[in-house]
Amino acid sequence: MGADGTAISVGIEKNINVAALAVRKYTQLEKQPENMLYIQGDAEVIDTWFAQGEVDVIHLNFSDPWPKKRAHKKRLSNHAFIARYAHILKPDGEIQMKTDNSALFEYSLMEFQEEGWRLKEVSVDYRREEHAEDVITEYERRFLEKGQPIYRAVFVKGGQEKDAPFPEK
Ligand SMILES: C[S@@+](CC[C@H](N)C(=O)[O-])C[C@H]1O[C@@H](n2cnc3c(N)ncnc32)[C@H](O)[C@@H]1O
Repeated sequence: MGADGTAISVGIEKNINVAALAVRKYTQLEKQPENMLYIQGDAEVIDTWFAQGEVDVIHLNFSDPWPKKRAHKKRLSNHAFIARYAHILKPDGEIQMKTDNSALFEYSLMEFQEEGWRLKEVSVDYRREEHAEDVITEYERRFLEKGQPIYRAVFVKGGQEKDAPFPEK
């Protein structure tokens, strides 16, 4: 939200060339969406760009899968990133994640679960049904054209306390 209460969308990209391309595409749109900002930087420090509890929703769209185990810490659904998201999201804020990569999807389900988040929605073939309300991203279109399924999950923070004891009977 901006200071006047209007919703703001913020695109984040660490690669300077990709970020520049995104901004150029935006400026070339016939009808530019309002209240759109871009940050060129590493989401590793996302919690320094937003105030605590400021963000309604974070979209992780087709994040890099980083298949090698030693690179898993770079995954945007690694527990260290999840902790930063938890800090900037509103209490009822959510993460909406889409990917073509089954290994990244499975990893993400486990990471969010281990951090105590609740799985609000899940699909292993999201576009089997129409979702006109949800934008098809550039990568998503490529995978759909190849006939690949889109995996999607929505995670809500604080669904359960991490390390909470079993409830007494
Ligand atoms: C596969 S592309 C996704 C493209 C787009 N989201 C889509 O769905 O069409 C992944 C992008 O995430 C960016 N990225 C990866 N790690 C990042 C990080 N830690 N911070 C910011 N951007 C990152 C990469 O530079 C790359 O351009």
